[in-house]
Amino acid sequence: MLETPSNPLADLMARIQDRSAVVGIVGLGYVGLPFAVEKGRTGFRVLGFDRNATRVEQVNAGVSYIKDVPTGTLGELVRQGLIEATGDLDRLAEVDVVVICVPTPLNRNLMPDLSFVESSTRAIARRLKPGQLISLESTTYPGTTDELMQPILEAGGLRAGVDFFLAHSPERVDPGNQRYTTKNTNKVVGASDPASLAAAAAFYRQTIQHVVQVGSARAAELTKVFENTFRAVNIALVNELTLLCDRMGLCVWEVLDAAFTKPFGIMPFYPGPGVGGHCIPLDPHYLEWKAREYNFNTRFIALAGEINRSMPEFVAQKTMRILSDRGLGLRGARILVLGVAYKNDIDDPRESPSAEVLHLLAERGADIAYHDPHIPRFTEHGHDLRSRDLTAEEIRKADLVLILTGHTQVDYPRVVAEAKVVLDTRNATRNVPGGKPNVILL
Ligand SMILES: NC(=O)c1ccc[n+]([C@@H]2O[C@H](COP(=O)([O-])OP(=O)(O)OC[C@H]3O[C@@H](n4cnc5c(N)ncnc54)[C@H](O)[C@@H]3O)[C@@H](O)[C@H]2O)c1
Repeated sequence: MLETPSNPLADLMARIQDRSAVVGIVGLGYVGLPFAVEKGRTGFRVLGFDRNATRVEQVNAGVSYIKDVPTGTLGELVRQGLIEATGDLDRLAEVDVVVICVPTPLNRNLMPDLSFVESSTRAIARRLKPGQLISLESTTYPGTTDELMQPILEAGGLRAGVDFFLAHSPERVDPGNQRYTTKNTNKVVGASDPASLAAAAAFYRQTIQHVVQVGSARAAELTKVFENTFRAVNIALVNELTLLCDRMGLCVWEVLDAAFTKPFGIMPFYPGPGVGGHCIPLDPHYLEWKAREYNFNTRFIALAGEINRSMPEFVAQKTMRILSDRGLGLRGARILVLGVAYKNDIDDPRESPSAEVLHLLAERGADIAYHDPHIPRFTEHGHDLRSRDLTAEEIRKADLVLILTGHTQVDYPRVVAEAKVVLDTRNATRNVPGGKPNVILL
């Protein structure tokens, strides 16, 4: 066994304070790569681990594959020797801090799939050395750090909080958000012993402006899943209002705009064709699953999921109604979809509700084309489509233009001017001047 430093905490704290600690990041995706850059910028040497060999090569060549990480910034840090990537997990022995940023998906039965967290933890456990700090950033249910990771890490005889340190610090990155980035987004840190909490808080404080400490890893885990549940529930609430407004013949956008003028007691959420991405559709189910262990039924989560998952069908139905009002059927109708990313101004199609809308329209015989300036090829859920240029001819050719994501760089005045009819599920045409009789909002 490796020799334990006489005071592992003091030793690690000193290295964190003078930034000589080497930081290992397992999983260089949407979360791991921006964090690697932020750590590198503050002067830490970062060793990134990914099992995707292409990503490893790209990082080492200084080429970014994540939109929020400029190639120039990454390239400079790689040239300075501050960031390096590898697929060789034996090199975990070189690092003082390990940050885990691997995926936490759901399996086909909507149950947590912690296989990535578990395999990373086993890889770390095999090379664990005294004085290391392990921090899990992946979103997960309360109990993952203590119940799943800690026993694996302690199996070799080292003890959490004494010989090594273990914490959970959920990532809150909001891809595409220009105002709040990794650096200026408050970071919650939780650990189940005081030494681990102190080490993790010190580590994050070096890089992130404000660190919020909570007294257990479970509290930190629950904080993150609650945040995403809060969004899922509030989006479901405005989506449900949309369904009601449709029946009442009222414009939900007008009602929401008016409601959000109240300066207190309310906050803006907007309807859409459903929820997407790696977080909102998935994370609440982590909590729902764990709650069952306590014989507890998280009713808001179930209801929000049900409403949000019904939105693609509502969009398909509304498309059919609009075509029918114009004397057309869906079968054979040309639909030009604008935006397939799961939200505005990002290049991430994962779990995008557009995939389901496209599927529903295509299976009923529609002739689908799409344009997305950020997604040249769309392969979600068995689709294989390429983005079309947004020419006047392409717009005119469509029987209906369906806006599913409101990317800001799309020329909406031109879309409205050329289109026969537009179904706008995001109110992306809000600022197009004029009467817009051919635009129908969700
Ligand atoms: N994307 C977001 O906006 C966001 C925001 C907050 C939290 N999160 C959470 O952060 C976690 C990571 O999400 P992401 O979007 O960065 O995922 P991602 O798919 O973009 O990146 C994960 C990376 O981990 C790598 N990987 C998987 N298993 C590995 C292993 N055993 N060893 C080394 N590398 C491995 C993959 O190759 C991939 O490059 C998830 O739990 C997610 O829910 C994501």
